[in-house]
Amino acid sequence: MHHRSDFLVIGSGIAGLSFALKAARHGSVAMITKRQGIDSNTAWAQGGVACVTAEDDSFELHIEDTLDAGAGLCHEDVVRAIVTEGPARIQELIDYGVAFDRQEQNGESVVSLGREGGHSKRRILHSRDTTGREIGEKLLTAAQAEPNITFFEHHYAIDLITTSKLGLASENRCVGIYALDERAGEVITFRSDRVVLATGGCGKVYLYTSNPDVATGDGVAMAWRAGAMIANMEFIQFHPTVLYHPKAKSFLISEALRGEGGILLDKDGRPFMANYDERRDLAPRDIVARAIDTEMKRSGSRCVFLDMRHHSKSFLQDRFPHIYQTCLAHGIDAAVEPIPVVPAAHYQCGGVKTSVDGATSLKGLYAIGEVASTGLHGANRLASNSLLEGAVLAHRASKHIVASIPLERSPQKVRIPAWQSGDAEDVDELVVIYHNWDEIRRLMWDYVSIVRTDKRLQRAATRLQNLKREVHEFYWNFKITADLLELRNLVDVAAVIVESARLRQESRGLHWTLNHPNKEDSPKDTVVTRF
Ligand code: SIN
Repeated sequence: MHHRSDFLVIGSGIAGLSFALKAARHGSVAMITKRQGIDSNTAWAQGGVACVTAEDDSFELHIEDTLDAGAGLCHEDVVRAIVTEGPARIQELIDYGVAFDRQEQNGESVVSLGREGGHSKRRILHSRDTTGREIGEKLLTAAQAEPNITFFEHHYAIDLITTSKLGLASENRCVGIYALDERAGEVITFRSDRVVLATGGCGKVYLYTSNPDVATGDGVAMAWRAGAMIANMEFIQFHPTVLYHPKAKSFLISEALRGEGGILLDKDGRPFMANYDERRDLAPRDIVARAIDTEMKRSGSRCVFLDMRHHSKSFLQDRFPHIYQTCLAHGIDAAVEPIPVVPAAHYQCGGVKTSVDGATSLKGLYAIGEVASTGLHGANRLASNSLLEGAVLAHRASKHIVASIPLERSPQKVRIPAWQSGDAEDVDELVVIYHNWDEIRRLMWDYVSIVRTDKRLQRAATRLQNLKREVHEFYWNFKITADLLELRNLVDVAAVIVESARLRQESRGLHWTLNHPNKEDSPKDTVVTRF
């Protein structure tokens, strides 16, 4: 089967949906998503969107906080562009019906602002503690009502199609993708001259993550296989506080709780963050996650605790209903006892290298949202800057793509051969897939997490090389399935993370290594490519 559209968007989070809604004003949009439209990292975001809206705040302060969290590696021009365009994008979200919480102030209704680590001001717009779901639902409803957007749910992107792969002599560019229609068991060719990756991050590369199951690094893996530049993948952000409970599948305890005065306690009930940073519990995430890791290793405890007992039950129920109820369902009443928490993989700060307009190094391919490395986050993302980046980049990319690849002047025609599955058989050894999947996630957790060493990275690289060979053998010899595609992406992304981490011979932001404890004087982005 063959499908053709002016724009092809892969991923249905804030970036993908916002882009699709804007692109639909210019032409037809195919929206590919692995599960249902609402299944994305965005929908799981609790905290909110960082944006300057308060009178006592300023763009300069937000820029300063972002640069400070990014530990010397943010691109200041990009930070400036994204921060200053925030208010316009927030207004668009409100126009789509997103209901940010409001409060009474001097008899007036004003937007209610939360605070999170690394922010010098209250500037997080939120919708209780399910902000991402509110945004995702409203954008999805608008996109589903848009006649120019066609949704392809349960479709797994397999690979980007480029003119060089097709053996064409023209300048290399992306001309579409192959995708597996999981329900029909059929591979479809999606042809487009404007392909946008909005596939989110890669939390599932790690054993413990706050991310949904869909976060398997598909965009970075596909772009890397197609030869695009990938930047700063060593910077994987670990969220300091994920619920520690055998039955809670890495449930996030939002940083917004610390913004409301939550205090981290060690196993003996003592606060410890003052020993690590003067901003204590509201220090940037890399510092807090490392402090927790150190405390757990020092005391041999399996978790630390977040104390919210200074707030009444009714406050917690009203401000954090989802978190309060989920803890309660696991037997923890946050109003009367501290919440057991541990760090877990949360956000990919690097990704497919792009300009501030989302253009990648491969013509015809754009990347927006978590999958992209624009230069906003540097070595560590400031909390709640990601939804902001997704909305701003969607807008900028939609303008840039239409100007640089005009619809009325389509590039040279290409003929894409249909997918060949040859004489591939059904996967008969599913156990091998599941075993490899577990092995990758365990080895990344043990060897490539919060604190690293040269030796552990070297071991990880060797093991991943073997795993890569096995997975690729499966890929070529058996009929593809969704699990096999995700496994192939996981192993490729894990290897890119390790390669990037080995290239950075210093400790900066989220990349902390015992062998190179100092910072380099003139830090650079880590850029890797396949070829
Ligand atoms: C949180 O609510 O703590 C997550 C917010 C973010 O990752 O920016």
